[in-house]
Amino acid sequence: MKRNPSFDLVAPRYLFQEVAHRVDLFMRENPNAQLIRLGIGDTTQALCPIISKALIDESKALSSPETYVGYGPEQGIEPLRKMIAQRFYPHLSADEVFISDGAKCDIARLQVLFGSDAKIAIQDPSYPAYGDSCRLMGKNPILVPCQKDLGFFFDLKDLEPCNVFFCCSPNNPTGTVFTYKQVQDLVAHAKKFGYIIVFDAAYSSYIQGNLPCSIYEVTGAEEVAIEIGSFSKMAGMSGVRLGWTVVPHKLLYSNQKQVHADWLRLIGTLFNGASILSQKAGIAALTDEGQQQIDSQIHAYLRNTHKLKNALLRAGFSVFGGDHAPYIWAQSERFSSSWQAFDYFLNHYRIITTPGIGFGPAGEGYVRISGFAQDANIIEACERLAHSQ
Ligand code: MLT
Repeated sequence: MKRNPSFDLVAPRYLFQEVAHRVDLFMRENPNAQLIRLGIGDTTQALCPIISKALIDESKALSSPETYVGYGPEQGIEPLRKMIAQRFYPHLSADEVFISDGAKCDIARLQVLFGSDAKIAIQDPSYPAYGDSCRLMGKNPILVPCQKDLGFFFDLKDLEPCNVFFCCSPNNPTGTVFTYKQVQDLVAHAKKFGYIIVFDAAYSSYIQGNLPCSIYEVTGAEEVAIEIGSFSKMAGMSGVRLGWTVVPHKLLYSNQKQVHADWLRLIGTLFNGASILSQKAGIAALTDEGQQQIDSQIHAYLRNTHKLKNALLRAGFSVFGGDHAPYIWAQSERFSSSWQAFDYFLNHYRIITTPGIGFGPAGEGYVRISGFAQDANIIEACERLAHSQ
């Protein structure tokens, strides 16, 4: 069989596979190096007690013939969909929420929903799965560059005609958050030019202060936007795998048919629903007690991010982000490229980072540093930044 030519459009390895590969090569040459992992944004704190208990309880229930369940509804169990709608989208219904096995999987399934003819635009830099999943459909995305002098935002005038626009707020990797005005302008623009916004809010629980956590906080967004949410970073459940996608009833194609009906059809075909264990964990996470436990985890990650940010500043880096997301976007005139900066951090500080170019061409020259590390590693990273110039 002939190889799918779409693979020629992507790099041989996905960003985090490439980082892992280079770290592996480094470790072969430096087997005693004590590396601190501030690369991929992966949670490191133990599961909150309420989540862990829900997993144990459901596992016991599955072990008894009276309480065993097999497949659940592809859209996810209703109590969880209701809780998500009530907590995050008071103007939307549980029927507009679709439970997934994580944001990344739905990002790929959305490409199938839109089809290979759809023109996809993406914020640059942003989460690499948007661009790569588009390329695997056989086409290059339109890149909409974020500019440093716009506070790492894009100018809507640079958004070429498209059918779908992927963006995230807080932005991964820069950590910037849309203001209400920016979301209003984006929604108005999408209405005027007839495209769908895919708004990835996977990091919204890290937003501090009065900024929009969901695109649906802006009137009329349900006519133009799909939103993606995740328990990975919000509830420290990256290994448990649980997320959701909101497809409002009011979101229509140009022929006035509902997108919702096609999404339901698609997930019924490509997906058998999220694990019942993770869904029960999700319900526990959304109770008031669960939210309190999660909140203290989120604040611990943010505190660590601030410590790192200060240490980087003192070490002479220009730093951005880190206030509404557990990511710091760093730059230095010492580096002419992101990979050079990555190598510098690895060799000099024994710290793994993520090269900014991996998030899109506008990320060249930067590295992203994650605050998702345990306290002892953050303290050690700050020490190394202070003493190894
Ligand atoms: C990242 O490090 O950007 C992501 O959080 C990893 C992921 O969720 O796939």
